[in-house]
Amino acid sequence: MIGFFRTLEFNMKKTSILIAALLCACTNNPAQMEGWTERELSLVNAEGGIMRVLTIDNEADTEVLRDTCTDFTAEMLLSGEYHRLAEKMVATVTSPEQDGVGIAGPQVGLKRRVVAVQRFDKEGEPFEVYPNIRITAVRGEKQEGPEGCLSVPNRRGNVLRWRDIDIRYTKTDGTETKDTTESITGFTAVIFQHECDHLDGVLYIDRL
Ligand code: NI
Repeated sequence: MIGFFRTLEFNMKKTSILIAALLCACTNNPAQMEGWTERELSLVNAEGGIMRVLTIDNEADTEVLRDTCTDFTAEMLLSGEYHRLAEKMVATVTSPEQDGVGIAGPQVGLKRRVVAVQRFDKEGEPFEVYPNIRITAVRGEKQEGPEGCLSVPNRRGNVLRWRDIDIRYTKTDGTETKDTTESITGFTAVIFQHECDHLDGVLYIDRL
């Protein structure tokens, strides 16, 4: 009988340790459970509304700018961290020191497929953020136009780009996500191509 109780007591101890570990895993840093890396969380949760823009003048920055990006999980897109990232990307690209028309994840240090683009084709020309974006179709002929990049300081150059494209991305309203496609034309289509290039480690200077 003593042996039985000892075993029971031992098993209960083991069980309570297991429960404690599980509780710990569930409550400790929930965002990390959803796919964010520690590095990404520290960038997104850093103080201040504006993020540092990486440039090719810096070797460590170049490694990030030249890498390829991965998609967000649905859980990540529904998290407060994603909402904060989207706000910070728009605040960064519209800040007086940057004053750009688009910005991509790697430019703020995240190897994730996300771009913020100024929609010159919409009333009020708002900045909008597109996670898990890809260009799925191009039409017509390429046209040449001048481009610059926040990550390539003090340079400009002419690039051939499509003026009529389709994009696919994951739309999110904070409570659900949905894959969506959209056709984009004109200069806004050029911005989408420039920003989507960033997600594959490509810079406009590669296309001059
Ligand atoms: Ni750029």
